[in-house]
Amino acid sequence: MKYLAILLSGRGSNFVAIADSIDAGRIRDARISAVISNKPDAAGIATARQRGLNALVIPSKGKTREQHDHAVVAALKENRVDLICLAGYMRLLSPWFVQQYPHKILNIHPSLLPAFPGLEAQEQAFAYGVKVTGCTVHFVDEELDHGPIIVQRSCQVLETDNERTLAARILEQEHIAYTEAVNLILSGNFEIVGRRFCKKN
Ligand code: GAR
Repeated sequence: MKYLAILLSGRGSNFVAIADSIDAGRIRDARISAVISNKPDAAGIATARQRGLNALVIPSKGKTREQHDHAVVAALKENRVDLICLAGYMRLLSPWFVQQYPHKILNIHPSLLPAFPGLEAQEQAFAYGVKVTGCTVHFVDEELDHGPIIVQRSCQVLETDNERTLAARILEQEHIAYTEAVNLILSGNFEIVGRRFCKKN
């Protein structure tokens, strides 16, 4: 059995996609041991409670990054955690946090990195006028939206799209991509060569 922690700040649809995949057996031999939000009013934390999961609020407001990260890592260490999934966690992790869990922290970003890192990636892609965009699941390293790429899924930008319809189409791909990435990592059947994530045989 592998134990996942989910870190989120908002809606939590990627968290729900992972939880549904576990419940449906698309991700096997895994459990979510903690769902942690830095925002008390995150919808994702209410959903975690409804699902009977261990839902923790660790407010970031009024704390330095180091103070907050120490509190989050302490909570992670109290719960068994093999893999940490950032799912709309709108905070940068300090280098210290990243170093506690080498190659054990994943993030999902709503663009084909390295295009459009940072905030509002879907809006950035729409405004830039790209014809194809998508999402990326990657390891978290000490730089923003930067670590080795595990899974990318693409989608077309349609003539009829606006920012909202494009973001919704990317989100469908995000939900599929995160399950794929978690399965790849939990299999342990990979190596990282430079920046390249390589499946073994
Ligand atoms: C998702 O689109 C995710 O890719 C994005 O926040 C949204 C969270 O939605 N994350 C980032 O932009 C991180 N840089 P959710 O709360 O419904 O999963």
